[in-house]
Amino acid sequence: MPIQIKTAEEIAKMRVAGRLAAEVLDFIAPHVKAGVTTGHLDKLCHDYMVGVQGTIPAPLDYTPPGHRPYPKSICTSVNHQVCHGIPGDKVLKPGDIVNIDITVIKDGFHGDTSRMFLVGEPSIQARRLCEVTWECLWKGIAQVRPGARLGDIGHAIQVHAEGHGYSVVREFCGHGIGRRFHEEPQVLHYGKPGQGVALEAGMIFTVEPMINAGRRDIRALGDGWTIVTADHSLSAQWEHTVLVTPSGFEVLTVSAGAPSMPAFVTASGAATAATP
Ligand code: MF3
Ligand code: CO
Ligand code: CO
Repeated sequence: MPIQIKTAEEIAKMRVAGRLAAEVLDFIAPHVKAGVTTGHLDKLCHDYMVGVQGTIPAPLDYTPPGHRPYPKSICTSVNHQVCHGIPGDKVLKPGDIVNIDITVIKDGFHGDTSRMFLVGEPSIQARRLCEVTWECLWKGIAQVRPGARLGDIGHAIQVHAEGHGYSVVREFCGHGIGRRFHEEPQVLHYGKPGQGVALEAGMIFTVEPMINAGRRDIRALGDGWTIVTADHSLSAQWEHTVLVTPSGFEVLTVSAGAPSMPAFVTASGAATAATP
């Protein structure tokens, strides 16, 4: 499948789906604290999506080729878990860092976003990893405009992460998104400037860097989904769904509770005014 250029009508629906996904993170934020299980967070999010928003949790029963159906409605990846952590009996404890990844379907279109949450007061090193990974997300997004290449996004992320002594996970990437959860193109979080597909207005894809405090190598757990760092070092991830606009980009996964973009992006002037 070639990379789709979304129509104005499709973009309008993607804005709605993106905002709703971000609003699930706003909703769950006050519940992410010591003593709660990841399974409870999943239930709260599931009920909010289905009962309050009228959205479909895209992960539930999602079965990409070679995988068993994903059993829950959200992903919760704690500490050395990189991504796709399955909610369950795990009790959050003070000092944990947790990625919560939400994908909703509304009116046939997907919105996909994740944030890091701090439980209690994690170590300085853990907080720094979360902060630098958030900066990596925005370093990538700041590259987005017509004519830029996918390699520009990956390169900006890789330089920032490695400049802090961290490593970039290679096996998972951002992705086109729309009527399907994962579409073309693949958005690598490493690469060379000027290489790869040229961006065009109307493309919509995610940027979702996974950054490890230690080595980049990963392992899959026996549950068939959870990915962990091979060296058990901490890992962090942030994700937004992004539209290429004629003058730059628009982040679609915006909500009142999403951290606003950093000054180094505001200064670039590429952001189209978002409508939270
Ligand atoms: N939300 C993830 C992403 O950003 C995908 C999760 S697939 C699941 O692409 F099945 F694990 F939910
Ligand atoms: Co995604
Ligand atoms: Co996601």
